[in-house]
Amino acid sequence: MISPTERMIAEIDGPIGWMVFNNPAKLNAMAPDMWAAIPTILNHFEKDPAVRVVVLKGAGEKAFISGADINRFEERLGSAQIGKSDSDNMRSALDRLEHCTKPTIAMIRGYCLGGGLLVALHTDMRVAADTARLGIPAAKLGIAYTLSGVQKVLDLIGPAFTREMLFTARQFSGVEAQAMGLVNRAPPEAELEAFTRSYCATMAENAPLSIAASKSIIAELMKPRGDIDRAKCDAIAKRCMESEDFAEGRRAFAEKRKPAFQGR
Ligand code: COA
Repeated sequence: MISPTERMIAEIDGPIGWMVFNNPAKLNAMAPDMWAAIPTILNHFEKDPAVRVVVLKGAGEKAFISGADINRFEERLGSAQIGKSDSDNMRSALDRLEHCTKPTIAMIRGYCLGGGLLVALHTDMRVAADTARLGIPAAKLGIAYTLSGVQKVLDLIGPAFTREMLFTARQFSGVEAQAMGLVNRAPPEAELEAFTRSYCATMAENAPLSIAASKSIIAELMKPRGDIDRAKCDAIAKRCMESEDFAEGRRAFAEKRKPAFQGR
């Protein structure tokens, strides 16, 4: 276990690297030290071959993350320097999360609001309890959601639902969020963790290089057409084709057994 700050915990359990937002008294609202800890924890998980999937969750039963720390806004407004360092901190944490080389899942129980949803939107997949409460309360506070945040929501759910989320600023249940495409799955709350663990186990049985290849290729395809690095995608595919794991996959198929992939 590592804990770069008491408000963030990293634990490895089987194939899962758990990143826990641990500020339950404030419903896991994101304080500056929490943003700063994200890259440190991801470095730790990326280095450990046992970690096949990174799962983000909030401590306690009430929230994934209730948003950026609203109390900090006064300080940010009072000092341009604090404002800039906070937004740089947040930006680099989200970039790092988005570009994590391993698959990432946000496991959402309870509130997932504003900056909390922004964190979830920078993971590969979101699994929310049916009872979760997801929303962007920016219009209730009088602020604008970030450009990259709106872009992420728009990419996932399209303009009509994005307007509905932003204009009403209301909370959507996990079930509603799934219907909009904001989250991938919305199991019953009591089954949330078991469901997530079983999804991770399924991914952990698959070839890590294939998953990493898919992740990189999807990221390339999300770029404007002219920016897509086709040579990079070809090299990624070639690396898989020449990997020991592909040889193992073929052998296992012929021998009618499960493959044991090593990520090489
Ligand atoms: N920033 C800082 N503190 C927060 C917070 C946030 N985003 N969200 C919750 N908290 C704090 C509350 O101030 C409260 O602290 P206190 O016990 O010292 O008074 C504690 O967390 C518990 O929250 P509380 O409001 O009492 O819980 P609730 O169950 O009545 O309501 C929410 C839950 C999530 C609806 C409500 O806390 C809320 O609206 N939070 C802000 C959500 C938001 O606007 N997020 C976007 C920010 S950019």
